[in-house]
Amino acid sequence: MTTIAFCNHKGGVGKTTSTASVGVAMARQGKRVLLVDLDGQANLTGIFLQDDVEVSIYDSLVEKAPLPLVHIEDNLDLVPSNLNMSAAEAKMTQLFQREMRLHTLLAKVKANYDYILIDCPPSLGIVTINAFLAADEIYVPVAAEILPLKGMMMIENVLEDLREVKSDIKISGVFVTRFDARKNINKSVEEAVRTQYEDVVFNTHIRDHVSLSEAPGSGGSIFDYDGKGRGAQDYLALTQEILERTK
Ligand SMILES: Nc1ncnc2c1ncn2[C@@H]1O[C@H](COP(=O)(O)OP(=O)(O)OP(=O)(O)O)[C@@H](O)[C@H]1O
Ligand SMILES: [Mg+2]
Repeated sequence: MTTIAFCNHKGGVGKTTSTASVGVAMARQGKRVLLVDLDGQANLTGIFLQDDVEVSIYDSLVEKAPLPLVHIEDNLDLVPSNLNMSAAEAKMTQLFQREMRLHTLLAKVKANYDYILIDCPPSLGIVTINAFLAADEIYVPVAAEILPLKGMMMIENVLEDLREVKSDIKISGVFVTRFDARKNINKSVEEAVRTQYEDVVFNTHIRDHVSLSEAPGSGGSIFDYDGKGRGAQDYLALTQEILERTK
């Protein structure tokens, strides 16, 4: 059983797209997968469910309700989010052992899954720290547009603080998203990321592809929207690498 958190406090880098795409790819290869939406924007939830949910991860993190598990398809379940999660940062500051709540909740269900994939909100607050402490692997998607290395330092600093409670915590995977070979800046960003994160960077990069931006509105993952396109191909390749690394 492996728990993977997709985190980056920078918005729009592909955390949600990656969580959904890797999750569906794994499930369709027979892995038992649980997706966890930690973001008040509930974008991951919106890919799989048409309507807003009444009970979300918020109720479990803050109100101690059992995890709401929604069955999506064979081998694939989802812990949904809703707008309430936007208040979670503020609410959780008063709670006992607030950093470990997700870890404790997932411990109760993890025997039922091969992979738990966590989609983090674009922040480095208490909710993301819960994901860091619940995860075996921390993967950081990096959009090829803007030089990301300064932002990576902010993640490194948070992990450094967390080493007091979890000594081996680290970024264990980095991959480039929204890659467009026609743009020189994309190539220099990729080169910089490959140099800086040589040990953990994935070979696969995710190309910029219009189907990936359209899929969420279609009520399903990239594999149902455009299963043969570049977006699906890239996420299949990334999934293979992840399965290889974590087996
Ligand atoms: N490789 C890609 N090519 C084209 N569009 C993409 C790609 N990856 C993601 N997108 C689109 O870019 C937007 C941002 O992606 P996504 O929601 O996955 O990022 P995020 O990091 O989860 O954002 P946030 O920080 O707001 O949660 C979405 O509209 C998504 O459909
Ligand atoms: Mg997101």
